[in-house]
Amino acid sequence: MKKIIIGMPNSLELAKKIARKLKCEYSTLKVDKFPDSEVYIKYLKDLKGKEVVLVNSFHPYANKALVEILWAAYTAKDLGAKKVTLVAPYLGFMRQDKRFNPGEAISAHIASGLLNKAIDKLVTIDPHLHRIPKLSLIYKIPNKTLTANNVIAKYLKKHFKNEVIIGPDAESYQWAKTIADKVDAQATILKKHRYSSRKVAVKLQDDINIKGKDVVIIDDIISTGHTMIEAAKTAKKLGAKNIYAMCIHPLFVEKSYPKIKKYFKKIISTNTITHKTNDMDVSSLLCEEL
Ligand code: R5P
Repeated sequence: MKKIIIGMPNSLELAKKIARKLKCEYSTLKVDKFPDSEVYIKYLKDLKGKEVVLVNSFHPYANKALVEILWAAYTAKDLGAKKVTLVAPYLGFMRQDKRFNPGEAISAHIASGLLNKAIDKLVTIDPHLHRIPKLSLIYKIPNKTLTANNVIAKYLKKHFKNEVIIGPDAESYQWAKTIADKVDAQATILKKHRYSSRKVAVKLQDDINIKGKDVVIIDDIISTGHTMIEAAKTAKKLGAKNIYAMCIHPLFVEKSYPKIKKYFKKIISTNTITHKTNDMDVSSLLCEEL
């Protein structure tokens, strides 16, 4: 089946790269708003009989991205596409994965329910799997969870020596430890207490010596940056020489990047979300799956 790669607003550059690497037809999707703010979309190329690969991350503006993806998927089918694959390098709505307080919506279930009906396949990178341990528990369509671990390990091997890798909380340790093992580095974990979405505290759990060392703090997501900042403060107190932050998904919500960057020698992210810190490229990883 012939593929056409469709670049959507949040992932245009990545979509173009994927199309170039796969030597596939490429088109952008026209996305606009009606005067009353309702979504307007228009395909610019013929889709009949093709596999339409929509490429769009859920950041920024996750709600907008979700609606655009739903509209794009239904329209593609309507226009004769044989299959609709969604490549969402950053999959949204995964952190509200349970009802934390009475009356709350469980966003992960609602978003997956809508997408299950609209698309035929989902490809994503390191989704935030926490209380839902596997994507297939909520995504009933064929789905593939890729990991950027090798991309990160390759970067570390090229740019660092004798670094200590820190996972800033129990959830991030799965990435920090796996990556540390790949590059033969020491890894440790911080214990995090989250008071609210904007207030966290962390402390070192074991007595690893980071004095005078290069420390790389690795997390899946940098959102408000509080986790990373608290981790950097701890590393500094313990005498780290240079402190770096690495993440897969650079959200940097609420214009937090300038504030966070002061704490680090460098912040390095993958391009699952377009940001100036994108120094690691996941396009080849996605191409392998496509
Ligand atoms: C949480 O479970 C994640 O692994 C990240 O630590 C978290 O999303 C980071 O959020 P923030 O940047 O707002 O502290």
